[in-house]
Amino acid sequence: MRKVLFASSEVHPLIKTGGLADVSASLPIALHKQGHDVRIILPAYRQCLEALTEFHTVATIKLDGYHSPIEIIQSTLPDTDVTLWLVNSPEHFDRNGGAYGPKSGGDWEDNAARFALFSRAIAAVAMNQGQLDWLPEILHCNDWQTGLAPALIADLPNRPATIFTIHNLAYQGLYPRSSFDALDLPKSFWHSEGLEFYDMLSFMKGGLNYSDHITTVSPTYADEICTYEFGYGLEGLLVERAKQGELTGIINGIDLDEWNPETDKALTKNYSAHTIRNKLANKTALQQHFALPLKEDVLVIGLISRLVSQKGIDLSIDAIATLLDADENIQLVCLGSGEASFEQDLRVLRARYPDKVGVTIGYDEHLAHQIEAGSDVFLMPSRFEPCGLNQLYSLRYGTLPIVRNTGGLADSVVDASGDDLKHNLATGFKFEAATAEALEETLLRAIALFRHPRIWRRLILTAMEQNYSWEKSSQSYQELYDSLIVKLAR
Ligand code: ADP
Ligand code: GLC
Repeated sequence: MRKVLFASSEVHPLIKTGGLADVSASLPIALHKQGHDVRIILPAYRQCLEALTEFHTVATIKLDGYHSPIEIIQSTLPDTDVTLWLVNSPEHFDRNGGAYGPKSGGDWEDNAARFALFSRAIAAVAMNQGQLDWLPEILHCNDWQTGLAPALIADLPNRPATIFTIHNLAYQGLYPRSSFDALDLPKSFWHSEGLEFYDMLSFMKGGLNYSDHITTVSPTYADEICTYEFGYGLEGLLVERAKQGELTGIINGIDLDEWNPETDKALTKNYSAHTIRNKLANKTALQQHFALPLKEDVLVIGLISRLVSQKGIDLSIDAIATLLDADENIQLVCLGSGEASFEQDLRVLRARYPDKVGVTIGYDEHLAHQIEAGSDVFLMPSRFEPCGLNQLYSLRYGTLPIVRNTGGLADSVVDASGDDLKHNLATGFKFEAATAEALEETLLRAIALFRHPRIWRRLILTAMEQNYSWEKSSQSYQELYDSLIVKLAR
C-alpha cells in the first residue's frame, strides 16, 4: 500500500474542461480500489464547494509570503471513498466562471498567482505541514498548474518522490519575468535548467526539471514530445530525461462504470457486444434529437470536442462539407465549444445542410454519452493527441473511431485495412496527413465498409472487445511509484 498525494486542477465530476478531469478521477479511483491510500488535492473552486454536500475544514496552513492562511477542506470524490482535499483561498478560487477563466472565455488575469498558490499548498501538504498528520510517499502532479510543487520541495529532506504527468505539452503556463518576481519564487530557480524558458517563467518546467520522473499519457506521445515538431522547444530537456530512463508513456485508462453501454442511464436502450442490435435505437434517438431524417442506412458521424486547432476541427468541417456536396449518405452530429470561429463554422455547416448536420454548441455530458452510443463512427482527426479519451469511449460503445495516426490515437486504434482487417484485429480508421483530403479519403473508406454489414459488425465486435480499463495502466503507475521510492531512499 502506497500513500499518494494526487494533485490536479480539475477532477470529474466536480470541475472539468477536458480529459485531465476524467483521468484525475478515474486513476485515483483505480489506485484506491487496489488498496492504495490516495488523496486528491484540488483548488476549492466555488462550483466544487457548491457541488459537494458534505465537507469540513481539516487544516489551516500559513504559507510563506501570504497574509491569509489557507484552509484544507476535506470531502470525498462523489460516489467514492477517495479522499479529496480542497485548497481554500477564496481570493483565488471563489468566483463565478470556470477553472481557468470567466464564462465569456479567455483566462483569469491572475492565473499565475492562482496556480502558484495552489502549487505552494500542494508542496506544504506533501511535506505534512499543517495538522493533517499524513506524509505521502509519492507526490503525483499533473500539468502546468501543479508544476511549481515539485520544484518547491526538490531540496527538502524527507520529501516524497515526485512524478509529473504531462497531459498536454501545448499548455505550459508561460508568464513574463515580472510574474516570477511578483510571485517571490526563490531566485535560484531562474535559470534555463530551472523555471526560465527564454526569459519567461514556465510552470511546466517546474514539473519537467524538478520531478524525479516524468510521465505522459501514451507511449507514442512520449516519443513525439522528444521531437522538434511536438516539443515546443522543450524537446532537448525531454530527450535528456528520456535517455536517463526518466520519461515514460503510460496510456490512460477509462472508467468502465461511467462509460458502460450496458448500464449507461443516458442511453435510450442499453446494449452490449451480445445485443448490438439495440445500438440502433440510440441512433434513431440521436437523429430525432438533432431533427435529422430517421434513417438506418445513413452513416452517422459523431464529434465531441473542445473546438480548438489541436482537434483538427477545420479538417472535419472541410472534409464533411466536400462529402455532403457529393451527396454521400452521411449525417454529422456534433457537440462542442471553444474558439468562436469554429463554433461559427459549424453553425454555418448546419445552416447549409439542415437535414444532414446537427450541431450543439456547449458542454453537455448527457448528450456526449448519447452521441457515443448513437453514432456509427466517431471523428477525431487531431493534429496531435497526447492520449485522447473519446476514441476509447467510442471503442467501448462500438462506435468506430476515425483518427489521425498520432499520440494516443495511434496507440489505441487499429486501421481497417490489409491484414488487420482480414484477421479481425481492426477497430477503426487511421490516416496520416493532417489534411482534409486525407480525412475525406478515410471517410470514404468507412462509408464503403459500412455497406458491408457483416464486416462492419465484426469491426464493432473487435472494438468492443478492447480493454482500456485502468487495470494495466494503473499497474504501470504502481511499479513506477515503487521504483521511485526505492531510488529516493538510496
Ligand atoms: P481533451 O482533454 O484534449 O479535450 P480528451 O479526449 O482526453 O481530450 O477528453 C475530452 C473529454 O471531454 C471527454 O470526456 C469528452 O467527452 C469531454 N468533452 C469534450 N467536449 C465536450 C462537450 N462539449 N460536452 C461534453 N463533454 C465534452
Ligand atoms: C489532455 C490531452 C488529451 C488527454 C487528456 C487526459 O487534455 O489533450 O489527449 O487524453 O489530457 O490525459
